[in-house]
Amino acid sequence: MSTANTPTLLPPPERHAVLRVMPMPSDANIHGDVFGGWIMAQVDIAGSIPAARRAAGRVATIAVNAFTFKQPVFVGDLLSFYAEILKVGTTSVTVSVEVYAERQRLELEVVKVTEAVLTYVATDNQRKRRPLPPV
Ligand SMILES: CC(C)(COP(=O)(O)OP(=O)(O)OC[C@H]1O[C@@H](n2cnc3c(N)ncnc32)[C@H](O)[C@@H]1OP(=O)(O)O)[C@@H](O)C(=O)NCCC(=O)NCCS
Repeated sequence: MSTANTPTLLPPPERHAVLRVMPMPSDANIHGDVFGGWIMAQVDIAGSIPAARRAAGRVATIAVNAFTFKQPVFVGDLLSFYAEILKVGTTSVTVSVEVYAERQRLELEVVKVTEAVLTYVATDNQRKRRPLPPV
């Protein structure tokens, strides 16, 4: 996982964002800083996308293995979420999620704001774990 968070003008061009979303005033405190819990919820959704694809169905988040808020997020930032599978087990899929914010401060900049690693478990209709299907 890259640790670079130097501002640039564009998100990583070679990668496809699984999710893009813009926080609104209701997602922030009175100073316009977005709540960490709101970002965590979006990261959970973003990570579940490749996990559910690999599981070919329902998944549940079993663990947030790592989570770092590297830079603040502000109301009006355009957030792009990049998620990739790091590890596949018998029932679990571990995913890394990186979040970039595109924003207009003094000038347009793109900065990595968050990185996280989450584990999802494939579940059945009774919410019990189930083996991942073969690829
Ligand atoms: C998901 C759930 C059905 C799994 O059932 P379980 O009996 O606890 O599952 P296990 O302990 O056998 O673990 C299942 C897999 O998760 C992995 N796992 C368990 N704890 C983990 C942890 N802390 N970190 C990473 N992986 C973990 C296991 O290694 C196993 O992987 P594998 O099958 O690929 O080897 C159950 O834990 C559950 O319902 N949890 C609540 C999920 C939820 O509601 N999430 C939303 C948050 S409110």
